[in-house]
Amino acid sequence: MSERFHALLVDKTESDFSIGIREVALSELPKADVLIKVAYSSINYKDGLASIPDGKIVRSYPFIPGIDLAGVVVSSEDPRFVEGDQVIATSYEIGVSHFGGYSEFARIPGDWIVPLPENLSLKEAMIYGTAGLTAALSIQRLEENGLTPGKGKVLVTGATGGVGSMAVAMLAKRGYEVTASTGKESEHEYLHTLGAAEVISRNEVYNGKIKALDKQLWAAAVDPVGGESLAAVLSKIHYNGSVAVSGLTGGGNVPTTVFPFILRGINLLGIDSVYCPMDIRKALWKRMAADLKPDVLNRIAKEVSLEELPQTLPIILKGQARGRFVVKI
Ligand SMILES: NC(=O)c1ccc[n+]([C@@H]2O[C@H](COP(=O)([O-])OP(=O)(O)OC[C@H]3O[C@@H](n4cnc5c(N)ncnc54)[C@H](OP(=O)(O)O)[C@@H]3O)[C@@H](O)[C@H]2O)c1
Repeated sequence: MSERFHALLVDKTESDFSIGIREVALSELPKADVLIKVAYSSINYKDGLASIPDGKIVRSYPFIPGIDLAGVVVSSEDPRFVEGDQVIATSYEIGVSHFGGYSEFARIPGDWIVPLPENLSLKEAMIYGTAGLTAALSIQRLEENGLTPGKGKVLVTGATGGVGSMAVAMLAKRGYEVTASTGKESEHEYLHTLGAAEVISRNEVYNGKIKALDKQLWAAAVDPVGGESLAAVLSKIHYNGSVAVSGLTGGGNVPTTVFPFILRGINLLGIDSVYCPMDIRKALWKRMAADLKPDVLNRIAKEVSLEELPQTLPIILKGQARGRFVVKI
């Protein structure tokens, strides 16, 4: 095995920031139990932030980003994994303070690794990636709080994004009537092909005005957008409905009131995929393996190479991405 390999490296000093494909030595990887030959990674919003100087994601430089990876075990000091095992590793400290997936090799602690479930390829696992895991966790939490397809329409905000696209397709597959909200006029057809029953403009969810309580339109919502839009969503959810909030592409401040909670019994469910416990994580990956068919996953995915990352990462920060970028390493 070659001692040197390629990776995307970001570096920052007081006066300079750089991003590019560099040669790295195995000895430069962090110490961890399992050495993995990475086959695929993906691009998430956090990776976009890791690729810019003021993204406040990367803890120390030089650094290899990429919060998701899937590949084959080369060697392991953890008895749960042996050479040749196909594995997935997402989140925890990966791509934030522990070298990540934009690299031909990665060393990852065994406690962060999920065996690749049956009926899922390494590429499909990375089409799902953290976005898919987050959508699956959102749907599970909504269902734990009483959502069933008979309860009414389910809203997905930021619907053309990674979490959004996955949520639309997974909800539709489970028999839900999905309202997909998007800022991209040109992508309505895409969202219908993922299974959305109805596609509405982002402005129909939030038009700059928030009422404490508004007309009850949706039984539940998967919301990776947050911000003022989330306050508007909360005012439009059915009595006893739930909102699973996972993101902040629309902002971090939510100017809501207590009224949706105390007068309509709305549940606001926080979704964190980063430290999602391993038993839940493994069950969600099994569920995803049995969920979307390859044709749907391929409709959501666009494949890029390691070399194409520097020009592709900025697209997600501009909110212009459609679906998921899967990165062939
Ligand atoms: N909690 C967790 O564990 C977790 C896990 C993964 C991601 N996240 C977070 O979830 C969010 C989405 O992640 P992602 O990977 O899906 O990102 P993404 O692929 O960039 O999707 C975000 C989507 O949000 C919409 N959007 C962008 N700017 C907006 C604005 N100003 N107002 C309203 N909508 C806007 C756009 O969709 P439309 O054009 O279709 O509206 C965009 O495609 C991020 O904040 C990310 O950090 C959290």
